[in-house]
Amino acid sequence: GHTQTEIKLQPSDDAPKISKHIYGHFAEHLGRSIYDGFYVGDTSAIPNKDGVRTDIIEALKEIQIPNLRWPGGCFADTYQWKNGIGPQEERPTMVNAWWGGVTEDNSFGTHNFLNLCEELGAEPFISANVGSGTVQDFMDWIQYTNHPKGSPMAKLRKENGREEPWNVKYWGIGNEMWGCGGNMTVEYYTNIYKQYATFMGSGGNEDDLYRIAAGATGDDYHWTEVLMRDVPKSLIEAVGLHHYAVIDWEEKGPSTDYTEEIYFKSMKEALKMDEFVKKHIEVMEKHDPENEIDLVVDEWGGWYEVEEGTNPGFLYQQNTMRDAMIAGATLNIFNNHSDRVKMANIAQTVNVLQAVVLTEGEKMILTPTYHVFKMYTGHHDAQLLPVDFDSPEYSYEGESLPAISVSASKNEAGNTHISMVNLDANNEHKVEINLEGLDIKNMVGQILRSEKIQDHNTFDEPEKINIAEYKDFKLRKDKLEVNLPPFSVIVLSSK
Ligand code: AHR
Repeated sequence: GHTQTEIKLQPSDDAPKISKHIYGHFAEHLGRSIYDGFYVGDTSAIPNKDGVRTDIIEALKEIQIPNLRWPGGCFADTYQWKNGIGPQEERPTMVNAWWGGVTEDNSFGTHNFLNLCEELGAEPFISANVGSGTVQDFMDWIQYTNHPKGSPMAKLRKENGREEPWNVKYWGIGNEMWGCGGNMTVEYYTNIYKQYATFMGSGGNEDDLYRIAAGATGDDYHWTEVLMRDVPKSLIEAVGLHHYAVIDWEEKGPSTDYTEEIYFKSMKEALKMDEFVKKHIEVMEKHDPENEIDLVVDEWGGWYEVEEGTNPGFLYQQNTMRDAMIAGATLNIFNNHSDRVKMANIAQTVNVLQAVVLTEGEKMILTPTYHVFKMYTGHHDAQLLPVDFDSPEYSYEGESLPAISVSASKNEAGNTHISMVNLDANNEHKVEINLEGLDIKNMVGQILRSEKIQDHNTFDEPEKINIAEYKDFKLRKDKLEVNLPPFSVIVLSSK
């Protein structure tokens, strides 16, 4: 069936800026994310810069990666950073207890990570060990990365070949403290949080730090409530939130060979992000009406069963048009809540969960999710154009979801970008967008789509899904009519 939906863009001087950090990434020491992913070592035959694959570096620069979270995830609360510095061959090893029980040889450590971020032009976001670490280790890490010179850690850094500090701004204080970070209550963690946050600034640089409290999962509003209520504003810059689009933790379903029923359920789970973000923001509003503390969704994405024959602890999964829908809709949700959501990190960048890049030996492919990130770069740091509309429904066996997701922005150069997702697996939807007040003369379009929802790129067919030019729209004066084909992502840009 064909329906027509009217969408109004409402330019407003008060609208927030969409922080580019919403388009952030995440690389955990998990499976083939770092080792045999980003990092192949500097003796590898695969082209690399200081051991990091140059094809991955180029791909991430292309989508203007704004930040990278590391080293976990659950791994973070087991990580002893001091074992990852100094001569590689002398570094102690450890067991990666959460992810497959493999031996971590610490060959990729703080220098490797921070130099990679410099190379990428991305802000590092270190999520530090609280669960099994000490306040002293945390203080030392900050001193090691940020203190200019003369201090014990600055001297050690220099001995290890790096004179200038990296000035790391973003610090996560533990991860999932309700679970793998230590199975704590929020009341207990809040005190621990305050203890860590108190000592983080002892290098005299507390004004330069952005401290992110380990947040809730999904609809745990009590978690956010207690942090917001009990942590003084002088000790906190942001509260985290994690939400994965998982249809059932016991039976996550296949990453490629799924039915429409599973697809529908995945969409339903993904769209819950809107409700979660809204309600966590309401809690934050109550304690912080001045909007001084940010919401950081530092893990999100689709989570399925691993690919057959791969280590279940490595979380390696394929990435189809379903993932493009999740990415497109989720990023629109973040844009539309950018007054409070200032950062987000897809889980995860390379070879883990909803990856943007997959590798196999010397081969690398870009996933549909990657292409969505690429199409949305126009939103980075642009001013939000709030949207108002009633979505048509995508129905499946008596249940329904909003079929259309939209966000829009205008950047400093004056260009407008409108990103639209039609997640209906069967029907095209037509939208009419009112552009009054935007003074748009011409637009160009891009689309991501494929024949089947299950379609994906493979190492044999890496270009099956790619961004194409889109022309099925009409611009007449202030009215823009667009046809949105089933399960497609479209971005229209003024020029
Ligand atoms: O991203 C994979 C895992 O999911 C992370 O390590 C953890 O924080 C979350 O449970």
